[in-house]
Amino acid sequence: MRIDIITLFPEMFDGPFTTSIIKRAVDKQLVEIVMHNLRDYSTDKHRKVDDYAFSGGAGMVMMIEPVDRCISTLTKQRNYDEIIYLSPDGKRLDQGLSNQLSLKTNLIMLCGHYKGIDERIREHLITMEISIGDYVLSGGELAAAVVTDSIVRLLPGVLSDETSALSDSFQHGLVSPPVYTRPRIYKEWEVPEILLSGNESKIEAWKLEQALARTAERRPELIEKLKKNE
Ligand code: ADE
Repeated sequence: MRIDIITLFPEMFDGPFTTSIIKRAVDKQLVEIVMHNLRDYSTDKHRKVDDYAFSGGAGMVMMIEPVDRCISTLTKQRNYDEIIYLSPDGKRLDQGLSNQLSLKTNLIMLCGHYKGIDERIREHLITMEISIGDYVLSGGELAAAVVTDSIVRLLPGVLSDETSALSDSFQHGLVSPPVYTRPRIYKEWEVPEILLSGNESKIEAWKLEQALARTAERRPELIEKLKKNE
């Protein structure tokens, strides 16, 4: 898989993409993540990429030309499955959407800034808009990092068997059951006896029961969703 990220702040990705699981995926060449600084596509001598809104009001708007030039350069080189704009009014990211995107070959992610981007970019160039939640971030970069992380960890070969994405919270529509490690007793806090029993089928049944109880208590709407899909 290849992910091209168009941003005014490529350095914002240094931390998330050069550590832990994403770094391993990049090192193993399971994903190629390519940054594009939008200013490199400006024809302005000051590398300007934003301008005042025609409607007036506060805030600058990201201009169409540099974005179009950048996207056209990329789409001439290969076919893209989706050209994604990160935006609070996009489709809400969930595990189902991450699963779908993890099956794609080439993705572009455009990170917006300032007051927004020229609407014609969204109308003519973008194929999908994604929000990571009902709150406003200063720009799309953190959202693009979140979306990328949730996709990359699903790619075959990225996680080892023990950390398999199949056992993640939400992968079956439920939150994860609790997990424990040594020591068996800390202060007076004990690990549930069943986990020490060695009886695998009983342990699996316990995990499912815990996941269901937790989901019902913390995220009742997920249980409703599961019932509807039955
Ligand atoms: N850009 C600003 N806020 C955002 C959000 N909540 N999700 C995705 N992109 C954003």
